[in-house]
Amino acid sequence: MCGIVSYVGEEPKATRLLLQGLKSLEYRGYDSSGIALLNDTLSVYKNKGKILDLEKSLSTLSDEEREKLDQSICGIGHTRWATHGEPSDINAHPHMDSDGTIAVVHNGIIRNYIKLKKELIYKGYTFKSDTDTEVIANLFSYIRKDLIAKGEYEDFLAMRLLSSRLEGSYALAILLNESVNPNTTQPAKRILLAKHESPLVIGVGQSENFAASDSDTVLQFTDSIIRLADREFAVISKNTIDIQDFEGNMIKPVIEVLKKNDSLMDKKGYKHFLLKEINEQPTVLSKMLSLIEDSTYENFKLINFNINFAEIEKIYCIACGSAYHSAQALKYILGSWCSLPVDVIVASEFNFQHKLIGERDLLIGVSQSGETADTILALQKAKSAGARLLAITNRPASAINNLCGANTYITPADLEISVASTKAYTSQLMAHYLLALQIATARKAISREFFTDILHNLKTLPVLLDQMLNRANHYKAAAVNFAGYRDFIFLSRGINHTTAMEGALKLKELSYAHASAYPSGELKHGPIAILDENVPVISIAIPSIYPDEQIIYEKIIHNALEAKTRKSPSILLTTDSNQDHVEEFDLVMRIPDIDQLFSPILATIPLQFLAYFIAENLGKDVDQPRNLAKSVTVE
Ligand code: AGP
Repeated sequence: MCGIVSYVGEEPKATRLLLQGLKSLEYRGYDSSGIALLNDTLSVYKNKGKILDLEKSLSTLSDEEREKLDQSICGIGHTRWATHGEPSDINAHPHMDSDGTIAVVHNGIIRNYIKLKKELIYKGYTFKSDTDTEVIANLFSYIRKDLIAKGEYEDFLAMRLLSSRLEGSYALAILLNESVNPNTTQPAKRILLAKHESPLVIGVGQSENFAASDSDTVLQFTDSIIRLADREFAVISKNTIDIQDFEGNMIKPVIEVLKKNDSLMDKKGYKHFLLKEINEQPTVLSKMLSLIEDSTYENFKLINFNINFAEIEKIYCIACGSAYHSAQALKYILGSWCSLPVDVIVASEFNFQHKLIGERDLLIGVSQSGETADTILALQKAKSAGARLLAITNRPASAINNLCGANTYITPADLEISVASTKAYTSQLMAHYLLALQIATARKAISREFFTDILHNLKTLPVLLDQMLNRANHYKAAAVNFAGYRDFIFLSRGINHTTAMEGALKLKELSYAHASAYPSGELKHGPIAILDENVPVISIAIPSIYPDEQIIYEKIIHNALEAKTRKSPSILLTTDSNQDHVEEFDLVMRIPDIDQLFSPILATIPLQFLAYFIAENLGKDVDQPRNLAKSVTVE
């Protein structure tokens, strides 16, 4: 989703740093990009397409224009993910006011932009784009001119007036051409920032300062950051950082010193970030197991949550996309280990359900980015309804961590660059097992023997996963057979319905083929109608030593064979030593022997590879699939 980067300093490196910053924001997903530079006047350069396209068009500028680029010490940049107005050169950010004295980049949505636009057109302002953002540029221009005319102009006052008119979410970076305000005593080269429900952090340097949507972007340039809170403004120049809240109170900046991140965009020799991230999964899982705070039966603690799990009557899990799929596993695990009811709800559908939450209920929010607008909103609603909150996120510097504080478990998967989730998803699955173990032991719901068995099984996962990475070529050979199909069905039951949903999502995201997942019992209730030789069916069937789960396995096999009788190419995903019915399938993909209860992490890997190799075979943009954003910061 949209990304912002800003630089103000004394060395002529604004253009280079803005482009570098934008490249590190590419992973968020975007369709156009642009920069604005403040020299004697404001100059905007923007393009539909990739940052590479922007760079190409910058290289064709006249010598005079190039000189401006090379001399700039102050600028803002943006990657746009279209919400209002199609991806185009004109709709790309930065946007300027009609007079060309203000440039704005924006992440978020202004809900009342149509009303404001009409008002501004009436006042004589003109608009070039279809975006909500251009309204901000013209509205700020109007407010500024009015304050200058009254001799009352001040940055924070102008921003307060601006935000009092804006409804919606916004992170903003604004550049001002000071030629219209000759009496100002403020540094001419400064950037105005605002944060309201969209991410924005400041980077503190020596005689230079930065701002970006992402702390990792800033950490390429400096190790010191300031996290702006919601409803805060800032004005940064090369030597000053002033912060004020929306009510007009000055805020003392809190500077955090973090580890600098030089290698953010390093693929470490892999062709794609996605492949690198698939290969990082064993390390992430090992790290999670080694970081368990207390692994004894008596006192098992993933981390020390400030929640009495013995008292909880019901759990609600809210999340989106892959995080939502992972949460389905928690439902099965807790249902099986301690008969604790878990409702898993898509965050954007949670709106009315928070009214059902009682005092003894726990709401768990799961989000890789920690910035997903739907998930944040659901957590906020649950909080105001009095529910206890717990979060699982991959990003320490995130809104969700801020909201849930000490009750946040940070998955140590590190930054996930590829838009399609792989290592963050499997780390969420592992987090669910470990959290379930903490809840089950706190409720004394499982025996010491079963506890030991669970931990043993979880500890084998990183080792088995590591071995599976050597099978990449085997999965590639399978994938090549299926690259030509446009529709796929994924079937499973029980805990691996999670895996079927995630497998289908990966395939959709990466290859743009249509893929649907069903609990296999549902097949004959409708989806079977579409089956023929053009619709492969991938069935995930993992045997179990537990009788209830073994019955699930047998039923999946029977449903898979029903599909086969409708001529669908049939793929079975099962364990290495399982020989049951395998000869009846067109293709068998295997994972190391593991019980069904612990299989979702391993069973996901072949499906990640399948999606990756099909997409690669079709020549798709693996790391930045079309239309997708990494952190979905709008509702
Ligand atoms: C996963 O491959 C997706 N790109 C997407 O479904 C993602 O899981 C979803 O948008 C939720 O994001 P979050 O985990 O950052 O909240």
